[in-house]
Amino acid sequence: MGIEKQQSLSVVRVMHPCLHLSGVLNFLCFVIGLSLGITVCSNMESFSIDNILATVSSFSLPTPSPLLPVNQEPPQPPPLSLEPPPPPPQQPPPPPPLSVEPPPQQPPPPPSQQPPPPPPLPLEPPPPPPQQPPPPPPLPLEPPPPPPQQPPPPPPLSLEPPPPPPQPLNATLMHNMTDDVLFRQALMVSSRVENSSNGYYVPKVAFLFLTKGLLPLSPLWEKFFRGHEGLYSIYVHPPPSYNESVPQDSVFYGRRITSQPVEWGKHSMIDAERKLLANALLDSSNQRFVLLSESCIPLFNFTTTYNYLINATYSFVNSYDDPGLGGRGRYSPKMLPTITLSDWRKGSQWFEMNRKLATVVVSDTKYYPLFRDYCTPGCFSDEHYIPTLMNSQFPREISNRSITWVDWSRPGKHPGHFGWKAISKQFLEWLRSGHNCTYNGNPTSLCFLFARKFLPDTVGPLLELASTLLQF
Ligand SMILES: *[C@@H]1O[C@H](CO)[C@@H](O)[C@H](O)[C@H]1NC(C)=O
Ligand SMILES: *[C@@H]1O[C@H](CO)[C@@H](O)[C@H](O)[C@H]1NC(C)=O
Ligand SMILES: *[C@@H]1O[C@H](CO)[C@@H](O)[C@H](O)[C@H]1NC(C)=O
Ligand SMILES: *[C@@H]1O[C@H](CO)[C@@H](O)[C@H](O)[C@H]1NC(C)=O
Ligand SMILES: *[C@@H]1O[C@H](CO)[C@@H](O)[C@H](O)[C@H]1NC(C)=O
Ligand SMILES: *[C@@H]1O[C@H](CO)[C@@H](O)[C@H](O)[C@H]1NC(C)=O
Ligand SMILES: *[C@@H]1O[C@H](CO)[C@@H](O)[C@H](O)[C@H]1NC(C)=O
Ligand SMILES: *[C@@H]1O[C@H](CO)[C@@H](O)[C@H](O)[C@H]1NC(C)=O
Repeated sequence: MGIEKQQSLSVVRVMHPCLHLSGVLNFLCFVIGLSLGITVCSNMESFSIDNILATVSSFSLPTPSPLLPVNQEPPQPPPLSLEPPPPPPQQPPPPPPLSVEPPPQQPPPPPSQQPPPPPPLPLEPPPPPPQQPPPPPPLPLEPPPPPPQQPPPPPPLSLEPPPPPPQPLNATLMHNMTDDVLFRQALMVSSRVENSSNGYYVPKVAFLFLTKGLLPLSPLWEKFFRGHEGLYSIYVHPPPSYNESVPQDSVFYGRRITSQPVEWGKHSMIDAERKLLANALLDSSNQRFVLLSESCIPLFNFTTTYNYLINATYSFVNSYDDPGLGGRGRYSPKMLPTITLSDWRKGSQWFEMNRKLATVVVSDTKYYPLFRDYCTPGCFSDEHYIPTLMNSQFPREISNRSITWVDWSRPGKHPGHFGWKAISKQFLEWLRSGHNCTYNGNPTSLCFLFARKFLPDTVGPLLELASTLLQF
């Protein structure tokens, strides 16, 4: 170990002045120097990089220390420099019509009034002091100089596999397969994937955008995805009437799938979700599938998001038993015997799942018709179909929690919206790390990777925070 060698050098140096004295003094000096060296050495060891890394990783994720993200981002890059598409107004201009709904200034009340809870401070070891061994002063009397002292190699923190070649720019996903044909093809690919020995491809995360039209926050997403080609695939399901064109240099270019009209809250929403999943299953390297809307934002950079999902042992499907009218009250006994009341679950439609569960959703012919026929007005398939299907078939493979944060703190049928006034460092920090949950069975404060519902005018303030706070 380099540090130890460094210690023995200083032992020699301590001994040097003693060389002219008697043998006894010489020996005493040696003993003192040696014990000094051992003491320093053992202190250094307890401070070694391995220990610090172990400490940091055992607390795994960033605890909410407000200034930390800023500190970790040494240079202050000019904001918004690399935006390819002409971004919408960068600065929040006078509040547009949204003044009708006063956006909450502060995070919703339930979990905490002060976003960054102070207690975890002790958990946050100060950023590891630079592990430089004390610089050796010039030692003229040195015997043969030891080999160059390399400090321990930097920890392999960024293990991104090299991305495969990017897809052709003009690839298009539009096809006119019927759903039956599409689903059959998707399942064929899936069974090939299961049968083949895995590991020869780089797994990708499929981002499925179920949108009502434009993607007003696309400048933020462009920034999020940029530079990570080969590790993600994007699929967009807009209304069929949507006719805007996407610039060729956009990450969304050519990623639109053949769509069908979607009525919010109706069963057609399930059809659209299945279509998105089936299209994404056609690419055998897609391993995780996350459903997003045009009002969703990423809360972490791509690397953190990708690692979190690819390494997850559960799928993030929100599923719970709600005994009230809005839960069990929507169950129809006509679904018996396939679906019993105790199987019935509710949950957010914004799922994240692995390839196996995505295949289950696309191949389901048992639950789907029951929801189509009996989950009718008053019952919303998108809030029950996937939560119930997963709870019945693979209850141990889902986390029961969503990774997409939404504000249900206010009464009403619709979750809270956020306009530009709501965007602040504190709010985003609270979203990023102000919660408690488990990840792969361990407690963590990193519970949400995405959040909704953000209005189009948040894009400017969010882009400003992207490089420092969100770190992308
Ligand atoms: C895609 O681009 C290549 C080269 O630019 C061109 O030869 C090809 O015809 C294009 N394909 C489509 C479907 O536009
Ligand atoms: C279906 O696809 C074929 C080949 O891509 C094309 O010639 C045909 O016009 C398409 N039909 C419809 C209805 O879009
Ligand atoms: C694997 O291949 C066999 C036949 O080749 C097929 O019957 C099966 O469905 C495939 N999938 C799995 C998961 O075994
Ligand atoms: C898009 O559709 C709108 C109406 O839905 C129409 O007014 C507009 O001209 C269309 N634009 C293009 C480029 O086709
Ligand atoms: C998470 O995944 C990345 C690659 O995607 C890998 O480098 C890293 O070691 C994984 N971390 C854990 C804790 O498994
Ligand atoms: C999710 O809920 C199901 C059923 O309530 C339960 O069996 C399962 O263990 C839960 N999953 C986790 C990760 O707690
Ligand atoms: C999360 O857990 C920590 C430690 O157990 C606790 O101090 C904190 O108040 C919790 N935060 C929330 C939002 O429950
Ligand atoms: C991504 O974010 C993490 C913290 O979540 C940070 O440690 C890492 O350096 C960031 N990566 C890049 C490439 O900015």
